[in-house]
Amino acid sequence: MKHKMEFTSGESVEVAEGVNLADCDEMFDTPVLFGCRSGSCGTCVLQVVEGMDNISGMLADEKDCIPSVTKESNCRLACQIHIEGPVKLTYLGN
Ligand code: FES
Repeated sequence: MKHKMEFTSGESVEVAEGVNLADCDEMFDTPVLFGCRSGSCGTCVLQVVEGMDNISGMLADEKDCIPSVTKESNCRLACQIHIEGPVKLTYLGN
């Protein structure tokens, strides 16, 4: 099953449920950039506008990294998550 991933900057893609976003070719059509792909650099930080319940749970590396890259709330690292339903996101990294 695929789920809609919509960005506040206008892009929209469909990604397969349960696949890590860092491994999805569809991410090339989004504003998201990846660096370390291991939850430590923060390059891929996203703010979840809608659908937080549709994103996989947060692990320790992500919990440690996010406060060092943004003070915004409801943030996740694209390289550490998979999607379980529709979401709306803002890419905060660059
Ligand atoms: S790519 Fe480095 S934290 Fe996601």
